[in-house]
Amino acid sequence: MKMFCAGQWQDTKETINVTNSFDQSIIDTVPKGSGEDIANAVSVLEQGARIMKAMTPYDRSLILQKAADLLLKRQDEFARTISLEVGKVLAESQVETNRSAEVIRLSGEEARRMTGEMIPLEGNAGGKNKVGFTLRVPCGVVAAITPFNFPLNLVCHKVGPAIAAGNAILIKPASDTPLSALKLTEILREAGLPPEAIACVTGPGGEIGRAICTDTRIRKISFTGSYEVGTKICEMAGMKRVTMELGSNSPVVIMDDADLEKATTAITMAGYANAGQVCISAQRILTSSAVKSDFVDLLKSKVEDLTTGNQLEDTTKIGPMVRESDAARVEEWVNEAVSQGARLVCGGQRQGAIYAPTILDETKPDMLVVKDEIFGPAIALSYFDDVNEAIAMANDTTYGLSAGIFTQDIDRAMKFARQVDSGNIHINWSSQWRADAMPYGGLKHSGTGKEGPKYAIQEMSEEKMVVMHLAD
Ligand code: SIN
Repeated sequence: MKMFCAGQWQDTKETINVTNSFDQSIIDTVPKGSGEDIANAVSVLEQGARIMKAMTPYDRSLILQKAADLLLKRQDEFARTISLEVGKVLAESQVETNRSAEVIRLSGEEARRMTGEMIPLEGNAGGKNKVGFTLRVPCGVVAAITPFNFPLNLVCHKVGPAIAAGNAILIKPASDTPLSALKLTEILREAGLPPEAIACVTGPGGEIGRAICTDTRIRKISFTGSYEVGTKICEMAGMKRVTMELGSNSPVVIMDDADLEKATTAITMAGYANAGQVCISAQRILTSSAVKSDFVDLLKSKVEDLTTGNQLEDTTKIGPMVRESDAARVEEWVNEAVSQGARLVCGGQRQGAIYAPTILDETKPDMLVVKDEIFGPAIALSYFDDVNEAIAMANDTTYGLSAGIFTQDIDRAMKFARQVDSGNIHINWSSQWRADAMPYGGLKHSGTGKEGPKYAIQEMSEEKMVVMHLAD
């Protein structure tokens, strides 16, 4: 595919291959964009920002509603593209495509609800005869730097609100998975988004990322990815506004009164969906010592039923990871944990980019599989004696994106919700659940700012204060 830059579809001399990690076949090629392409794109996007600002929220919402319809018409094509470029199984890619259309539709609805606030100035000393209100205005040019794991929906979570708020948008999709974002760009153009108001520049992260971060004409960056890259972006971004959706090693707590059937079903999904490559994957499973053996036996029987293989086959539950090198890294971390005393309950084998769904028992806080984000199909089990210890273990991390607790006791559940430092808390479910409309974002090293169209629109717009000084 070509990239969309400076108002037109463009090629570059050099291209990069997009491959299917299951068999290394080439799916397509995309341009190898450069820092110069970003500079050219931003010059045109500045014109686009003026066009978007002049458009009414109603007209912006019509574009987004039409784009959502067009996306659903090409649902099967999108799902297949996602599966090929990420390695995600088709059923999950269908869900992602549906969610993406919903995010674009919700963004269109929220565009119509964008509003300021009356400020009661007369409640202030010296405020007599003053009437004040705020206006929400677009930021201008917004950049979306997006990850490989949801190559369509996490682009929609940035592009939808940016357009709704009246901005021009520059997309830098992950180098491994640029195709879904390019196809989304086609759809937005077809839905009536002016060519000046969107760019999707493909290529390696380093040079392009630096060009985005240091271009002072870009007013806002919304990034999803690792803490390390997020930190570098913030260091380079200067006065830009930033939203950072970063990683996690999410805890899920199983109390002694938990519904073990429900908990093990939820964890079997949450630890291994998209081969564990989800920011809110369940990673640290903290269980009451009182139910240890029942819990492990039940979980093992479910995880062993997860079939691995070609992501396009209906029987496959876990496809390949996005790159073979990622599967090799997971293998290394698991082997290291075993050499440090962890017990391998199941999994632990690798075939190319496929890593078998793995359970590690008796893990310790200083093992990499516990303290860092594994972002692969392996979970780490450890044990506690009471809810206070469970909360302390859940909080023993630099991250804070999502956490879950299974218990029948509302007091313990609410204690957990109040005391665990995490942007999302789930009671009687695992860490991995998201409705696209809800506020979503992390505490601590898991980031800053919120997604969810209503909340992202706030982050992608500026607030102006207007004061009317009336006559006596
Ligand atoms: C993520 O991995 O960051 C997003 C998870 C989701 O949207 O379900």
